Amino acid sequence: MRRLFIAGIIAAFGFVGLAQAQTADSAIAARRAGMQLTAAATGALKRAVDAKTTELKPLKGTADALAAWAKAFPGLMVAGSDKGDTKSTAEAFSDKPGLEKAAMALNAAALKVSAAADANDATAFAAAFGEVGAACGGCHRTYRQR
Ligand code: HEC
Repeated sequence: MRRLFIAGIIAAFGFVGLAQAQTADSAIAARRAGMQLTAAATGALKRAVDAKTTELKPLKGTADALAAWAKAFPGLMVAGSDKGDTKSTAEAFSDKPGLEKAAMALNAAALKVSAAADANDATAFAAAFGEVGAACGGCHRTYRQR
């Protein structure tokens, strides 16, 4: 009886462990997929800058999505997701305020891009896009493995 009880406890912990591992793997997959979309969105913004397009309004949605994603990203550093198929550094887990600050730099830059797109202001758009690029590098330097 006692043995059965202990076996039950061990099995329960096993399930909890498995659920946590699955949550961690999902968080890693979401981080990576989101960053791939980030790269695609940034590419679309860059093409507009390079082409000096005056049709900027359609890119407001892309910039807004980038801003929202930046804000959500630090929340994906869930327990256990420092291990596995991830390139996040240990600092991304130990220095939450620093990661959030780096994420909010991208949020702010993307909101500037959004405002410039809405105003169809190519000069402001290009300047804000430069800030977006700086925000990518600023975070990767510390929180993403090379
Ligand atoms: C707040 C921090 C932060 C910002 C800002 C940020 N990144 Fe990342 N990025 C990361 C981290 C951390 C990873 C590693 C994710 C992982 O593997 O867990 C990553 C991974 C990536 C990857 C690899 C995705 C894959 O296939 O695994 C790409 C591409 C990428 N980022 C592009 C960008 C671009 C472009 C920008 C700017 C528009 C940007 N990132 C802004 C933190 C950031």
